[in-house]
Amino acid sequence: MIKMVLIGTGNVANHLYKAFEATKDVSIIQVFGRSNKSLKSFSKNTETCSSISELKDADVYIIAISDDAITSFTQKLPFKNRLVVHTSGTVAMNVLSEKNRKGVFYPLQTFTKDREISFSQIPICIESEEASDLQILHNIGKAISKKVVEINSEERKKLHVSAVIVNNFVNHLYYIGSDLLEKNNLSFDLLKPLIFETALKLESHEPKEAQTGPAKRNDKKTIENHLNQLNNNAFKELYIQLTKSIIDSHGEKL
Ligand SMILES: NC(=O)c1ccc[n+]([C@@H]2O[C@H](COP(=O)([O-])OP(=O)(O)OC[C@H]3O[C@@H](n4cnc5c(N)ncnc54)[C@H](OP(=O)(O)O)[C@@H]3O)[C@@H](O)[C@H]2O)c1
Repeated sequence: MIKMVLIGTGNVANHLYKAFEATKDVSIIQVFGRSNKSLKSFSKNTETCSSISELKDADVYIIAISDDAITSFTQKLPFKNRLVVHTSGTVAMNVLSEKNRKGVFYPLQTFTKDREISFSQIPICIESEEASDLQILHNIGKAISKKVVEINSEERKKLHVSAVIVNNFVNHLYYIGSDLLEKNNLSFDLLKPLIFETALKLESHEPKEAQTGPAKRNDKKTIENHLNQLNNNAFKELYIQLTKSIIDSHGEKL
């Protein structure tokens, strides 16, 4: 049984906690959080603490706190030569304090506290300084997911940029679409089957191959008509740039 201490009480910590609680191979022996309020949901079944001097001995410490706080938090840890890993897609492994053995345990998914999520298909991207630690991280990952992959810090940075584009940017485009509909008293629900099919199509088609629409066809009149309907200049500029990018990517000229 691998003994784990979970640091953090936010979105990722909550999801990891639930996932590991359901496994036989990993035991969360303690959760660290800065406030008693945020620790409340963990304290029913698990020991909690809000002072780093109270941290227990464990095989691995998972630091699921804000990216900017990771380095300084690890510098304050009162022990040496233990396995300390963070969960960030963007923070390099080597910014962790030298005092302990470094690693990364990055679950590539979007996490929000109030949404149920199944870990079994979530890629867990692992990295470690020492080969024997990679095996520990692999075992921990396998306890909750079928997809554990070794990814180094440079690769993880690229992965994170892509993840932001396909998740955060695409979601922002949903917002722009929903705003236009709302202003015209139309329900965003009408678009949901289209959104779901666009995503599901990726099971069988590459993104480039799956592209459809006026930009791909270079239908200039339709594009012009759409631009006339967008009153918000920022949204209009995005439409122009995305249209240009699609046309450029599909090898045609504007
Ligand atoms: N959310 C995602 O979709 C996602 C996906 C994959 C990876 N990640 C990574 O997972 C990590 C946590 O993200 P999250 O979304 O769970 O964040 P979050 O919900 O915003 O929670 C942040 C946590 O960090 C704690 N914290 C902030 N500053 C701290 C400090 N100086 N010392 C100690 N604790 C501090 C917060 O404590 P308080 O409550 O006391 O402020 C809170 O528990 C980040 O590295 C993020 O990049 C996030």
